Amino acid sequence: MNKLIYSFVAIVGILALANCSPKTVISTTTENKKSTSSTNAEVAEMMFSKLSNEEQINVVKSIPATDDIFSEGQTIYQTNCGKCHELYKPNSRNIATWMKVMKRMSKKASLTEEHYKLVSVYLNAKAKV
Ligand code: HEC
Repeated sequence: MNKLIYSFVAIVGILALANCSPKTVISTTTENKKSTSSTNAEVAEMMFSKLSNEEQINVVKSIPATDDIFSEGQTIYQTNCGKCHELYKPNSRNIATWMKVMKRMSKKASLTEEHYKLVSVYLNAKAKV
């Protein structure tokens, strides 16, 4: 009798599992669909950190450092980039060198994609030419 109960429990368990897995698959697919239907601008936003140095420089140079963007980038720079070491002078490096540094430091500072880009635009405006 006990054996019968155990196998019944086992079967119910297997059915429950079998029932669950397709659901997981479906929800992952829906999430994937969601992200592929993002606008180009959102994709560009998400992918900034994944671009090559050269591509990042092009993006950064294409964004005009308006007063708002400049001061936002400056604030993010000042609050996040002087925690572990001195706050390096923006004009201590050219933009190509800055973008190499930023690739490592944006991770250390846990910058969001948006903040990564704003700091880069700020640095570009002040970088050594
Ligand atoms: C969690 C600590 C930490 C934070 C936050 C941090 N850094 Fe650094 N930084 C380091 C360490 C450690 C080094 C030295 C090792 C290295 O170069 O990777 C360094 C080195 C540097 C250097 C000199 C390296 C070179 O190759 O010229 C620059 C410039 C720099 N960081 C800029 C930044 C900027 C910009 C930010 C903000 C986005 C930042 N750091 C945030 C830890 C940090």
